[in-house]
Amino acid sequence: MTIVNSIETPWIRTHTCGELKGESAGQEVVLAGWVSKRRDHGGLIFIDLRDRYGITQLVFDPAISGDTTSKEDAETIRSEFVISVRGTVRRRPDEMVNPKISTGEIEISVTELNILSAAKTPPFVIDDNTDAGEALRLKYRYLDLRRGSIQRNLIVRHQTYQSIRQYLSGLNFLEIETPILFKSTPEGARDYLVPSRVNQGSFYALVQSPQIMKQLLMVGGFDRYFQVARCFRDEDLRADRQPEFSQIDIEMSFTNREFIYQIMEGLVVNLFRDTKSMDISASFPRMTYQQAMDEYGVDKPDTRFELKIKDASSVFKQTGFQAFRSVLDQGGYVRGLHLPLSMQGDETFSRKDLDDLSKMAQQNGARGLAWVKVETSKEGPLAAFNSPIAKFLSDAEREQLVREWRLQPGDLLLLVADTNYDTVCGSLGALRSHLGRKLNLIDESLFNFLWVTDFPLLQYDAEAKRFAACHHPFTSPIPADEKKLLAGEDLASLKAAAYDLVLNGYEVAGGSIRIFRQEVQQAMFKAMGFSEKEVQDKFGFFVEALQYGTPPHGGIAFGVDRMVMLLVGTDAIREVMAFPKTQKATCLMSDCPSPVTPEQLAELHVALLKREKPASADAGKAP
Ligand code: AMO
Repeated sequence: MTIVNSIETPWIRTHTCGELKGESAGQEVVLAGWVSKRRDHGGLIFIDLRDRYGITQLVFDPAISGDTTSKEDAETIRSEFVISVRGTVRRRPDEMVNPKISTGEIEISVTELNILSAAKTPPFVIDDNTDAGEALRLKYRYLDLRRGSIQRNLIVRHQTYQSIRQYLSGLNFLEIETPILFKSTPEGARDYLVPSRVNQGSFYALVQSPQIMKQLLMVGGFDRYFQVARCFRDEDLRADRQPEFSQIDIEMSFTNREFIYQIMEGLVVNLFRDTKSMDISASFPRMTYQQAMDEYGVDKPDTRFELKIKDASSVFKQTGFQAFRSVLDQGGYVRGLHLPLSMQGDETFSRKDLDDLSKMAQQNGARGLAWVKVETSKEGPLAAFNSPIAKFLSDAEREQLVREWRLQPGDLLLLVADTNYDTVCGSLGALRSHLGRKLNLIDESLFNFLWVTDFPLLQYDAEAKRFAACHHPFTSPIPADEKKLLAGEDLASLKAAAYDLVLNGYEVAGGSIRIFRQEVQQAMFKAMGFSEKEVQDKFGFFVEALQYGTPPHGGIAFGVDRMVMLLVGTDAIREVMAFPKTQKATCLMSDCPSPVTPEQLAELHVALLKREKPASADAGKAP
């Protein structure tokens, strides 16, 4: 065996580490990669060589090379060294064949070794099933990226882009890039601002989405557009939300809602075929926003399991239970979930479990949760209620509830009362999702797509005392509601020509038909309480553009990260991004965001206010 030590790779690999099979036996090959494992067996050294295609077993056998020095060199090799070897493919003895890996039939009998790069002992073992904590994995993300599971996720992400590009391109959509540095406009989340060095005191904003620009592309005559758009939003983060994420952003002219649904369903069917070799059926079911809120308590229902929210207001109209009565007297609602015994599995719903559910309802806005366990009554045919509120309920109320909700012994009811409808539905919706997971009601093999339609156009923000757009201010009302918007009437009741695509309880895409006439756009801004000056300052260029011949248009944006997350079956968005941020929007690898020097700030004409707390790691480094 010859050891080669060269600063330039002397040999180009002939194969990857996932490629060689039994039929290549006898062939001379060159492989390169990372040392995954080294095992010494007396005179023999075995090394698992890894690259992103797989693992190949190398054998260093002094009997073959007859060169003891080189064996010593092989002994210096440690995990994560980068090496390249020349050798001969040989079949493994039958009892040594490893059916779990694609190259399990063969091994390489090494004749030449080149240690390309040594490696420090990594802070965690690089393995699919690592037990390293996420913080450590994010700090050493480049090592984490060597793990097969992350590599497979990023490969699916790549396939997603290729599939969508090919599909849209085939339908005449043009891929057009738009700026990331743009104007700060008040439309959704908080902006990330970028100070301008050249224009003192002025700022760009990193785009939250290319919404305005894609609409201007329609004005510009590019009737079918898409791009992989990087978006930036300074908002509170969750498991499915990152400050910087990617959309497949799509817009088209001369279209309507039905046509957009049809094209997008084709895109998704194609995507599942290309990435999962799976045929899913289009067209996707549809549900109005109202029905989603009524029955599931969220605007992105997970329809993989039943357990719908039901109304109980009529049962308790005359109730002696004051908490319900006063809510109903004020025009409020009593609604609940009915968990039949058959859904409860092994759960017994102890006092503590029920207290925990109450806490969860409260964390989601409810004032409390009333529970009822239905039991067989010893006294008569009427079911007995085991419940803190049982003593307040009349026989008639119990009878009506049993009849209307078809209650059986063993069933559990969870009831919430509130004057605010969204609070009732929202808290029950949160309980529903929790119980769906806890009671294993979800069939994980399903991919349940759903269009949620007819969102409200505007939502009243009680704190700001004005209406805000539910989707964004460029969303058109449904045609039947346009007159009311122009007249500024009945604003809370207006419906938007907006739609979300929901998959298994996640919003994977959202879009709308846009306002394309200037007077309607002005009416929308007015409804949102913008003064004419504000409109002029923030959106003047856009309103003006609408006056030069604007085609009717509409579009949608897919959250790529969320879509890939669901395609690969994880519930953490960070697992499908190469370099994600933490929940606190930091990068643990590079330690950003980080302070900058006073000189940099001065150049940007930016002065910092005194910090309330010093930034921990870098306290004192910058003003
Ligand atoms: P919207 O704000 O609904 O619409 O975003 C579209 C899709 O992008 C994904 N998404 C996110 N993914 C990860 N992290 C985030 N912080 C995040 N925020 C949103 C979601 C969502 O469905 N311009 C409009 C689209 C249009 O009207 O055409 C827009 O951006 O999957």
